[in-house]
Amino acid sequence: MLNIKEIMLSVAPMMDWTDTHCRVFHRALAPHARLYTEMVHANAVIHGDRARLLALDPVEHPVALQLGGSEPALLAQAARIGAELGFDEINLNCGCPSDRVQAGRFGACLMREPGLVAESVAAMIGACDVPVTVKCRLGVDDDHRYEVFQAFVDRVAEAGCGLFVVHARNAWLKGLSPKENREVPPLRYDWAYRLKRERPQLQVIVNGGIAGQDEATVHLDHADGAMLGRAAYHDPYLLHRLDVAWWGGELRSRAELLRSLRPYVEAQLERGVFLKHMTRHMLGLFHGERGGRAFRQVLSEGAHKPGADWSLIERALDVTESFAARDAA
Ligand SMILES: Cc1cc2nc3c(=O)[nH]c(=O)nc-3n(C[C@H](O)[C@H](O)[C@H](O)COP(=O)(O)O)c2cc1C
Repeated sequence: MLNIKEIMLSVAPMMDWTDTHCRVFHRALAPHARLYTEMVHANAVIHGDRARLLALDPVEHPVALQLGGSEPALLAQAARIGAELGFDEINLNCGCPSDRVQAGRFGACLMREPGLVAESVAAMIGACDVPVTVKCRLGVDDDHRYEVFQAFVDRVAEAGCGLFVVHARNAWLKGLSPKENREVPPLRYDWAYRLKRERPQLQVIVNGGIAGQDEATVHLDHADGAMLGRAAYHDPYLLHRLDVAWWGGELRSRAELLRSLRPYVEAQLERGVFLKHMTRHMLGLFHGERGGRAFRQVLSEGAHKPGADWSLIERALDVTESFAARDAA
């Protein structure tokens, strides 16, 4: 069992988005959230550029590595590498519906192969000493039988998986793009709640369409945690508000939180990382605020220029603050 306090709030794995710079930013906003990497295929973990794909900063903990794949031996090897590199959890993707992933016979189509997932999970558990978890959907295509979902979970749980992140909608493997697959199939949180009720020994995290603080909080009455994807990325201050609401502490301003990242940003610049690779994750910090558009604009227009450094972030903050001051006057 994972510590309940460490699974109440998590940020979803998101390809191209939740890289190490994004996770360090989210950590500054939400000290108690559980963070997830983008999905990395087991083969890439074993043969790829680990320094880039599995980059991990010490402040990120607790952080899970999400793996893609369906070959137990490869997944086991990748899980061992991930744990040795310091990831706190290894998560298996059973929810991605993209064509590329289907062609590789992993992601959401694994929901049709509970035996293979169980075998993979058992192999991963045997190969590493951190928890192995699964992120899944409710089902695939037009199969809407709760019993099939529960049978999948039971089989995988028997193999040793104690935590399921449930993206609470089906994946439609034909006819919908991955983006549509995050929007069109209807959400059914009650299936995740029922799973928790009927299998209280399992830890169940609810994911999908959680857009605000109140909504996220409701899930805690029925499950062990809430995982936020797009809302956390586009409105990252929501993570801070949730962290303070659930764990206590003083609400800090957006500017103060951002400035706390200055040593990180400057150390990365020193190492040759471009500013734009960090600021692209920060654009939504003033989402919905006066000056939020100006903040975004200053960063997007300036961050790709040669030599862009911390002073650009200060400029973006100044411009944003001047909007707020104008309002107050
Ligand atoms: C840009 C993007 C990339 C994603 N990549 C992954 C991924 O690598 N692995 C995964 O399990 N889910 C992935 N997802 C799905 C999210 O983890 C999450 O399940 C989904 O967005 C629903 O949660 P939300 O409504 O809070 O965004 C991705 C979603 C987005 C928007």
